[in-house]
Amino acid sequence: MAEPFYITTAISYPNGKPHIGHAYEAIAADVIARFQRQMGRDVRFQTGTDEHGLKMAQKARDLGLTPAELAAEMSQYFIDMCDELNVSYDVFLRTTEPRHHASTQELWRRMEANGDLYLDRYDGWYSIRDEAYYDESELITGEGGEKLSPQGTPVEWTVEESWFFRLSAYQDRLLALLETPGFLRPESRRNEMIAFVKGGLRDLSVSRTSFDWGIKVPGSENHVMYVWVDALTNYITGLGFPDETGDYAKYWPADLHLIGKDIVRFHTIYWPAFLMSAGLKTPKHVFGHGFLLNRGQKESKSLGNVTDPVALAGQFGVDALRYFLLREVAFGQDGSYSPEAIVTRCNAELANSFGNLAQRTLSQIFKNCDGYLPEISGHTAEDAELFETVEAAALVDLPRCFEDLEFSAGLEHWMTAIFACNQYVDAQAPWTLRKTDPARMQTVLATLYITIAQLAVAAIPVIPESAGKLLDMMGISQDLRTHQAIRSHWYSGLAESGFRLAQPVGVFPRLELPAEDA
Ligand code: MF3
Repeated sequence: MAEPFYITTAISYPNGKPHIGHAYEAIAADVIARFQRQMGRDVRFQTGTDEHGLKMAQKARDLGLTPAELAAEMSQYFIDMCDELNVSYDVFLRTTEPRHHASTQELWRRMEANGDLYLDRYDGWYSIRDEAYYDESELITGEGGEKLSPQGTPVEWTVEESWFFRLSAYQDRLLALLETPGFLRPESRRNEMIAFVKGGLRDLSVSRTSFDWGIKVPGSENHVMYVWVDALTNYITGLGFPDETGDYAKYWPADLHLIGKDIVRFHTIYWPAFLMSAGLKTPKHVFGHGFLLNRGQKESKSLGNVTDPVALAGQFGVDALRYFLLREVAFGQDGSYSPEAIVTRCNAELANSFGNLAQRTLSQIFKNCDGYLPEISGHTAEDAELFETVEAAALVDLPRCFEDLEFSAGLEHWMTAIFACNQYVDAQAPWTLRKTDPARMQTVLATLYITIAQLAVAAIPVIPESAGKLLDMMGISQDLRTHQAIRSHWYSGLAESGFRLAQPVGVFPRLELPAEDA
């Protein structure tokens, strides 16, 4: 039986349309999901929208909508974005779904039954933008002397009756969890969270009474749950919780919560504590990725530099955007993007290097071999060396890096293999062999056909559409599109017998900058 692999993204507040940061996370999670499927795992991939809370309620009021209307309208953009960007989620969960209310209320009841919830009064700071409570000592001072959250968002003094969760009781267990190797990456985030826990945990306010857009607290109907209790629970709702058989039994605990670095505290402190309290298992891994900056600047409405990821994909192509995002930035760190950087990167690596290699090889097979797969008549040392280089880089090093979420490094190996292929083409010059040594020409083209197939298979998680098109053109069947299968398969059966290549069409167009960016 295939080993299960459960991966989630954070669920976004649908208080506006998705921006590039949402696309980045969804694409990265999709690459992981596709890669793990390729490695033979039984993948479950969940994403969704986080629809309750004060931020949603206020935005709806500003727009003259009900929060439910705002959520319904905007969550559709998130669904569309995932679909447009080829994000292969299995579950898109909206926290306003009835099953999610039931699941969250059950989690609450279990925490209460465990003695971890008590009624008191909250006197303290709250940031609506972050939907987070902050201690006075965490606040920073803004330019005008005003108090701001550590993320630089406005905070307001809040006083209200509230249920509290006994977070302080979990200090030692949380510390042990955070110290578990691999639980939280990157390392810098882990050190930050360990310091936060060691600094002493205060009990957490987990309900609100000053508004009602949320999930009702069982038995305390004038309270709605703190939006993060509700949001985090999405990860188990989607598996059928409170039913602990079926998908829950199969996929929980999650193999990976992929999130932004700004919400690590919620995922590695609050969420595990809620789960421990309810007697449920904690997630295996949490990864906090970095932020994407637009030419080095944070995107914001006031700067007028907010990019619509779907428009960007429309402009340059979905696969170009996916490739760029994973290749350009070391995963975990902040990165910067611009139209020029996308064009430069994709033209150099996809169009000129891989695309050109594939196009000229397949064209020669089409023209010089009538489209029939060339025959091999004995390999030279150069052929053997190329096979070795490509296999090691694309089918060993790349998957090893991807397993560790080191996408850029993995793609660097992929590029190394492509360079080796292009050098081989130049050195072997198959076009000159057509007259002088047609048998050798066939062997050279066959060698290239095999290595191109391996390179395309390795790139499937990142550029699924173009890699798929290339493999289709090459007649390579679906069941050969894994590292394992393509590596060990005998050349003569890579395509069905009698397969004939049609006139190849380029799958990596050269990108151009639109006039206003050039
Ligand atoms: N909506 C939150 C944000 O955008 C993320 C919620 S992730 C979950 O910051 F884990 F709580 F679901």
